Amino acid sequence: MLNTVSPQGALPALMSADEALAAAEELRPIYERVSDVIPEIEWVTMAPYVKEILRIKKEKNAVILAHNYMTPDIFHTVADFAGDSLQLAQEAGRSDADIIVQAGVHFMAETSKILSPGKKVLIPDLRAGCSLAASVTGDDVRLLKEKYPGVPIVTYVNTTADVKAESDVCCTSSNAVEIVEKIAAERGVDTVLMIPDEYLAKNVAKQTDIKVIAYHGRCEVHEQFTADDIRAYREANPGIVVLAHPECSPEVVDEADFAGSTSGLIAYAKEKRPAKVVMLTECSMSDNVAAETPGVEFIRPCNLCPHMKRITLANILDCLKTESFEVTVDADIAVAAKASVDAMLRLSPPKVKPMAAAAE
Ligand code: 13P
Ligand code: SF4
Repeated sequence: MLNTVSPQGALPALMSADEALAAAEELRPIYERVSDVIPEIEWVTMAPYVKEILRIKKEKNAVILAHNYMTPDIFHTVADFAGDSLQLAQEAGRSDADIIVQAGVHFMAETSKILSPGKKVLIPDLRAGCSLAASVTGDDVRLLKEKYPGVPIVTYVNTTADVKAESDVCCTSSNAVEIVEKIAAERGVDTVLMIPDEYLAKNVAKQTDIKVIAYHGRCEVHEQFTADDIRAYREANPGIVVLAHPECSPEVVDEADFAGSTSGLIAYAKEKRPAKVVMLTECSMSDNVAAETPGVEFIRPCNLCPHMKRITLANILDCLKTESFEVTVDADIAVAAKASVDAMLRLSPPKVKPMAAAAE
C-alpha cells in the first residue's frame, strides 16, 4: 500500500462534487496507471486536480518535469518527463515549452533555468530545499579554491547556482565516477575536490584511483540508513535484493547488492524483476516503481524527504494558474554555473533515457 500521498485540500474552485465524480470517471485510463498504489477512493479527490492541470498545461504550453521522488499521483498522472537529476537537467535544455514547472526541489529548478534561460521556470513551493544544497555556499567554495589551488572542484548538482558558478564541473549520482576521472585526466592531476556530499565522495573514491577530497555535506534522508538495517532486512526476508542510493554511507553501499542514481535503481528493479526488493532511498520511489512492476514485492522503509514532499497536485495547479513561484538566477552567476553544467554534459553525454512521459 502507498506510504506517501500528497494532501490535496479542497476541490479546485468551480468544480462541484458531480463534476469531480465525472472527472474521476473521464480520467479512468490515467487512474489505471496508479491503481496498484492509490486506492480508488482517493482518486475522486485527485482527478479534479489532474484534469485542471492537464488543461492549463496545454493552454499555456507548459511542461512538468518531475523528479523520481514525487508521489505517484504527480509522477504517473501529470508529469511530462520523470527522471533523476541528470535526466531532468537534460530535458530542461531540450524542451520547447514556454513554461517549465519543476516538480522537485529548488536546485533542480535553478538548473532548469540555467539551461533554459529563455523559459519561465516555476516551482510550486519555494521552501522545497535540500540539506546538501544548504551545506555549502559560494564563499565556501572560494575559500576551498584558495586552500587547494589547482585542484579541480567537482560539484554535485544538489547545490545552489552560486556554488556551481565557482566550480569546475558538476556531476550527478549517475555520472560522478566518470566525471571525476575525466576532469582529472583533462587537467592532468591525480586529486579532485568533491562537494558537498561526503558519502557520495567516499563512495566514488572506492571506485577510482583518483584521490577524492570530501566535504562534510550529508543528505538528511540517506544518512539515516545503516548497515545494520540491511542485515535486519536480509534476516527477515531471505533472498531480498537491496538497492541503495550513493548518498548512503559507504558501509551501507558496501552491504547493498547494487548502488546507483534514482533512475539506476529503477532500471535495476524493472529489468531484473527481483521477487523481493528494498530500495534504500526516498519513500516515493518504491511506490512509483511498484505501480509499474506487478509481481515484485517491495519492502518499504520510509525515509521521507520533507523538501520533495512540499510539492503536491494542489500547489502544482496553483503554480500553473498564477505562474508563481518563478525561479530566476542572476545573469553573471547563470553564465558561470552553466559552464559547470555544460562541462558535465560534455564529459558525460546522455546515456539513460527518461522514463516514459506519463501525461497526455
Ligand atoms: P538522483 O540524481 O539520483 O535523482 O538524486 C537526486 C537526489 O536528490 C537524491 O537524493
Ligand atoms: Fe536533498 Fe536528500 Fe531531499 Fe535529495 S533526498 S532533495 S539530497 S535532502
